[in-house]
Amino acid sequence: MGAHRVIKRCRTLAELTETPHGLLRTFLSPAMREAQHLLAGWMEETGLHVRLDAAGNLRGVYAAAREPAPRLVLGSHIDTVPNAGAFDGVLGVVLAVELLAALGGRRLPFSIEIVAFSDEEGVRFGAPFIGSRALAGVLDAATLSLRDAAGISIAEAIQAFGLQPERLPDALLDADAFAYLEFHIEQGPVLDSLDLPLGVVTSIVGQSRIAVTFHGQANHAGTTPMALRRDALAAAARWIGAVERYARVTTGLVATVGAIEALPGADNCVPGEVRASLDVRHPEDEIRHSSACALMEAARRIANRRGIGVEYENRSDQVAIACDSALVEAISEAVAAAGCPVHRMPSGAGHDAMILAQRLPVTMLFLRSPGGLSHHPDEAVRPEDVEAALRVGDAFLAGLEAHHV
Ligand code: GLV
Ligand code: MN
Ligand code: MN
Repeated sequence: MGAHRVIKRCRTLAELTETPHGLLRTFLSPAMREAQHLLAGWMEETGLHVRLDAAGNLRGVYAAAREPAPRLVLGSHIDTVPNAGAFDGVLGVVLAVELLAALGGRRLPFSIEIVAFSDEEGVRFGAPFIGSRALAGVLDAATLSLRDAAGISIAEAIQAFGLQPERLPDALLDADAFAYLEFHIEQGPVLDSLDLPLGVVTSIVGQSRIAVTFHGQANHAGTTPMALRRDALAAAARWIGAVERYARVTTGLVATVGAIEALPGADNCVPGEVRASLDVRHPEDEIRHSSACALMEAARRIANRRGIGVEYENRSDQVAIACDSALVEAISEAVAAAGCPVHRMPSGAGHDAMILAQRLPVTMLFLRSPGGLSHHPDEAVRPEDVEAALRVGDAFLAGLEAHHV
């Protein structure tokens, strides 16, 4: 029970992977179906009524003492990056289940829905937040038609999983939902460096995801003289250096080329095409937008000089959000009631909370990331911090209960 069970369950879910070496679980993969199955069992034994919505989000509702009632929403995602750790996303779902298990069946004046979002990382389609966008009602046709590396669209992936894209409106957030709270590891070094267990999130930075393709000319590596090549990878390499230099001198900006593929991809072929990702983040949306434009312009300039074409596809543009001040206050009080120092902080990582913020008040509670490590197999969480987060959750529910009776 408690923190140890939470950690054990996260580790058990981390065994459900689509690759044998390192954890990877993407949107609507067979590994995700297995994770949903396991989670659904834990939710049901905790007294939740479970369903899978048309975006593949697993949703469990803990009914209120009397219905109809207002609804609190808790959750996080169960997809992962490649070679992931066991806690990013999953911890928020499993911890929420544990919080309700501690109620021992006692009903509250509000219902509680736990959502295990099907996609927050955006690994399969290069576009994050597919799951939470469905709840917010902003999963548009353009997004549904995005294709993965195998050429399958999001709508087709939903169908192939046995779900119906035309039922997406049923995934909308319940009309009675009044707040969303997400527990998540910090994924950074701040709490660890301050020796603090928990942080209350006040804002989440905006992020742009752009697919960039360089079109050169594939040719024979032995016969094509250096001066007569149109090498797409050499152009992309120069551009990646420019991206890093630009971000280093722009205060508050982070820009990352995290995935790159050279085609045809052989030792003895001049690369004719390169597909690269670009992830740009800044607390201020205007600076993020102007930086993304400048980085695309840099790609154009570098490519032009080498007779190479360049194409962009905006995969996602997510605005920065402020967390709800009343909820931040309520969580801060709960942190104090749990006997922990109150530390407020912004989030540099993206979270499902930033999508739901379009529809209802949100906030998050961060748990210290030992060593500041995340998106890495050594990602961890301390049992005593999970224990503290459970106490905070408990105090938060008690505060809401007092408010709603
Ligand atoms: C999710 O981890 C993100 O911030 O990209
Ligand atoms: Mn992540
Ligand atoms: Mn996450």
